Amino acid sequence: MSQSNLVTPAVASLMAGYSLKAHNTFGFDVCAQFACLIEREEQLLAAVRDPRVAGLPRLVLGGGSNVVLTGDFAGLVLLVALRGRRVVREDQDAWYVEAAAGEPWHEFVAWTLAESMPGLENLALIPGTVGAAPIQNIGAYGLEMCERFASLRAIELATGEAVELDGDACRFGYRDSFFKREGRERFVITSVTFRLPKAWQPRAGYAELARELAARAGQADGEALQPSAQAIFDAVVAVRRAKLPDPLELGNAGSFFKNPVIDAARFEALKRREPEIVSYAQADGRVKLAAGWLIDRCGWKGRAMGAAAVHERQALVLVNRGGASGAQVLALARAIQRDVSERFGVELEAEPVCL
Ligand code: EPU
Repeated sequence: MSQSNLVTPAVASLMAGYSLKAHNTFGFDVCAQFACLIEREEQLLAAVRDPRVAGLPRLVLGGGSNVVLTGDFAGLVLLVALRGRRVVREDQDAWYVEAAAGEPWHEFVAWTLAESMPGLENLALIPGTVGAAPIQNIGAYGLEMCERFASLRAIELATGEAVELDGDACRFGYRDSFFKREGRERFVITSVTFRLPKAWQPRAGYAELARELAARAGQADGEALQPSAQAIFDAVVAVRRAKLPDPLELGNAGSFFKNPVIDAARFEALKRREPEIVSYAQADGRVKLAAGWLIDRCGWKGRAMGAAAVHERQALVLVNRGGASGAQVLALARAIQRDVSERFGVELEAEPVCL
């Protein structure tokens, strides 16, 4: 862990009574008591040390794609808009690519491919920013971000110190990291460095991706193909567009629940009752269940409670059909959790941060 101190400007440009509607992908119309646009690292400390916000809670927002805002925020919202991306280092085995926290994730992935550095293509089209990616260790179509992670730079708000954290320090898990636990509210991630191995191999085993690749190549078995990184990128984009709503058209935060992981004995009992249950064996012997399937089976797909609804093509995604509040989405989530618990005895855990 390396440390350095920042020079803090004397005055922060705080905006009072600032609307967050454009800063959360659910499109909830709530206000921040204060907000500050962070385009340079030094602005961070000026903002949090401003006497007007002393003692107030803080919230860091990148793309706002993994948060449920249930009301006005009586505190300081830091809108991270740091930009820039570059290859910091290259050795025989890999490229090390750094991107500032405010870079839009998908644009960054597209850029690495355009620069002939494959490795992130399975994570195409995930909404949000680079700085948010490590917090929940984004993952999709057979790849998790932690597999391409080298290190990140963050500012510890209490001390103003910049720290560099490696993968071990970040304690990545399935949709989880240090920043969702002990590190919560303490750090602002300012940049992330990825390690993209030069010995690239396609990762095309995820059933839906394999099917899409095979269909595109006019073959029966996608897994036997040797698709290019660009072909995987294109296929992932197509699969996501087909079933996941575009937040610009229909407010949502991606998967609303984590896929629950249960022990083998419980799974066997469940499987006897529900032979079609969709599951994935884990390395530790436990079994991950497809929460979307559980919710679908309870009849929730496409159903609504007011303007809060379950998406028609993927039951794991809750949407704002227009004018819903965060509280209404949470009420819908609770109704779903209750039904899934009653029918399957499985507790669903919300995936986005609920405030
Ligand atoms: N399924 C249903 N009905 C549904 C939804 C899913 O039966 O309404 C079944 C599908 O047929 C499939 C299985 O459940 O057999 C899994 O569905 P899918 O492939 O869509 O993936 P998921 O497990 O529902 C996870 C991630 C997604 C990621 C996809 C692809 C989580 C919480 N979600 O969803 O991530 O894109 O896998 O890798 O792990 C996100 O985190 O925001 C997100 C979208």
